[in-house]
Amino acid sequence: MATYAVLGATGATGHQTVLHLLALSPEIKIHVYVRSKPKLLHLLPQVANNKNVRIFEGSMNDTALLTACIASTKAVFAVIASNENAPGLSIAQDSAAAVLASMRRLQQESNAAKLPRIVVLSAVMVNKRLCEKVSWLEHLVIYHAFWHIYQDLEKAESLYAREAEKGSLDLDVRFVQPGALIQGGKSGIVTISEVDRSEPISYADLAEAMVQVANLEGAKPTNVAVVVEGSKLQIHPTLLLTVLEGLLWTFIPRLYGLFQYFHLK
Ligand SMILES: NC(=O)c1ccc[n+]([C@@H]2O[C@H](COP(=O)([O-])OP(=O)(O)OC[C@H]3O[C@@H](n4cnc5c(N)ncnc54)[C@H](OP(=O)(O)O)[C@@H]3O)[C@@H](O)[C@H]2O)c1
Repeated sequence: MATYAVLGATGATGHQTVLHLLALSPEIKIHVYVRSKPKLLHLLPQVANNKNVRIFEGSMNDTALLTACIASTKAVFAVIASNENAPGLSIAQDSAAAVLASMRRLQQESNAAKLPRIVVLSAVMVNKRLCEKVSWLEHLVIYHAFWHIYQDLEKAESLYAREAEKGSLDLDVRFVQPGALIQGGKSGIVTISEVDRSEPISYADLAEAMVQVANLEGAKPTNVAVVVEGSKLQIHPTLLLTVLEGLLWTFIPRLYGLFQYFHLK
């Protein structure tokens, strides 16, 4: 039975991905990378005594640790991320660099054995094709409300794409690009698509789609959206506040620093 690595298992996507893998089969082996094991065990106490789950705790820049986590896996779920539209955000680029460093090390250590597929969490707004169906006004507002996040994601995707073009790692990287996400369990039948998407979807829906992408046969698709057929989910009204706040950090980035200085952030 296959082994999967979940990098960022304490996050909303990460822990739902672990839950989905655990539910798929008791035979599946999971390597989880986290920066805080106590936080993971608080969220997912069932993994504490599960012999099929190995926990790797530490800094994501510890290449030896990350390499051990991704070694012998079929796919790596790269879901170390942030939802905060913070000026200068670089978590997606930093985690892409860390994952790629580990892939290079793994290739050296394992003498060019087949490397795992990387399934990267991204966002619909960085996929021009999927955005064709979004009105220009919605695109303008949403893109600017999460500007720093999207800039970071676009640069991270470029890092992976450049490495894939170089060809030395024979990289198999897929980007999963959901629209708005809300907390909660599965909301319907989940499929993946290059041209369609549902919005909002739940984190559990997203996790199922991520696992589908990990198990796809063949070299395509590279950019994947998520479609859910089921009960229509509602976006929480507080999203409006998040959008307004995000616009503030985009257009007056210095204000973000000021809020941090006064511990308001
Ligand atoms: N929210 C939405 O509606 C939406 C829609 C589309 C796309 N997205 C994308 O989804 C991503 C956010 O995913 P999410 O909601 O799953 O995020 P999340 O719940 O904030 O989880 C982030 C994970 O990354 C880990 N992490 C963050 N910084 C780290 C660091 N320096 N070193 C090691 N681990 C670190 C966190 O660890 P700790 O638990 O230790 O902090 C956590 O496990 C963003 O890229 C966003 O663009 C979100």
